[in-house]
Amino acid sequence: MFKFKSCIYLDNAATSRFKPRAVIRAVEKELKRPANPGRGGHKESINSARHVEDCREQIESITMNGNVVFTKSCTEALNLAIFGSYKGGEIITSLYEHNSVLRPLERLKKEGAQISYISTKSNLIYPEDLKRKITKKTSLVVLGEMSNVTGQIQPIEALGALLKEYGIPFCVDTAQSLGHLNTDYKDVTMLAAPGHKGLHGVQGTGFLVFKNDVTIKPILYGGTGTESANLSQPLTPPEGQEAGTLNTAGIRGLKEAVKWTKRHFESVNYNVKYLSEILLDELKKIDVIRLYSPRPNGVITFNIGDLSSTEVADILDAKYNICVRAGLHCAPLMHKRLGTLKQGAVRASLGYNNTEGDVYTLVKAVKEIAVNN
Ligand code: ALA
Repeated sequence: MFKFKSCIYLDNAATSRFKPRAVIRAVEKELKRPANPGRGGHKESINSARHVEDCREQIESITMNGNVVFTKSCTEALNLAIFGSYKGGEIITSLYEHNSVLRPLERLKKEGAQISYISTKSNLIYPEDLKRKITKKTSLVVLGEMSNVTGQIQPIEALGALLKEYGIPFCVDTAQSLGHLNTDYKDVTMLAAPGHKGLHGVQGTGFLVFKNDVTIKPILYGGTGTESANLSQPLTPPEGQEAGTLNTAGIRGLKEAVKWTKRHFESVNYNVKYLSEILLDELKKIDVIRLYSPRPNGVITFNIGDLSSTEVADILDAKYNICVRAGLHCAPLMHKRLGTLKQGAVRASLGYNNTEGDVYTLVKAVKEIAVNN
């Protein structure tokens, strides 16, 4: 194993560095005395199940009322939403999506589905832009709330209200936004999220929340702890879509993570915004910098002239001990749109762990790289 000093961590869009103590304690408690929820009638199993159910309630309190199905990631939740709900027809998405949306849709496309991609001049999707794409055949709209490349935020409430009028299901990828925005998701049909980013839970946790009137076919078949005599997979949520043993420790941690994030929402997001503003302002002062993030939303992406983004990230890591993410961020169509498919881009993503010192150290390093390369 490598041994190294903790870095200046600016990769919170990949996973948040800060994990509250209550989360770590909760995970540890489950690991020290594990029991399988929903798989036994004994008190230990019931106790674990109680934590899992409490976590579902916490998730509903920050998203919307509906069924909460646990997954191992936001990607799995999006796969479940897309493959589980698709019954034919045309799907609308955008060029700004992550591969966790693009790839499931590409698979449906190969099976004959029509996929329509929105792109706008400003990269912002207004209801009028979406309305223009809707046809009689539109059966699903899948959009991300915040771009993991530029940090741009789409107006989910307005888009949801429009789709409600049309009666078209709306699936929202909140991978970068949940925990950072105060969106009212009442008109969203299916919401996918990771537990380990803006909610400050641990990796290996994610979930899909979907409205009660939606049927989601499982993508995984196996034990549910329910209807055991039935050889067919039950469809009843949440167990029907959660075959196999859950990540109970992670979910128990997630319950505390959501509670913590709710309590500290203002301070987390004040810090993220404040530091993003400084970083954007400072980068704008450097001549050779090309900036791709329009607003200080926690995800600040840039290039230093024509330098390869991965080389810049490697120098930041090796010489300055700063961790950022470069390359295409699993969002190839967005990079194509930005003209950065070859170069990629350097992404610094801020979190509760970061300080002004981290930002100024990054800016100083970027200036030095710009002069020396
Ligand atoms: N989707 C995550 C990112 O943007 C992992 O880094």
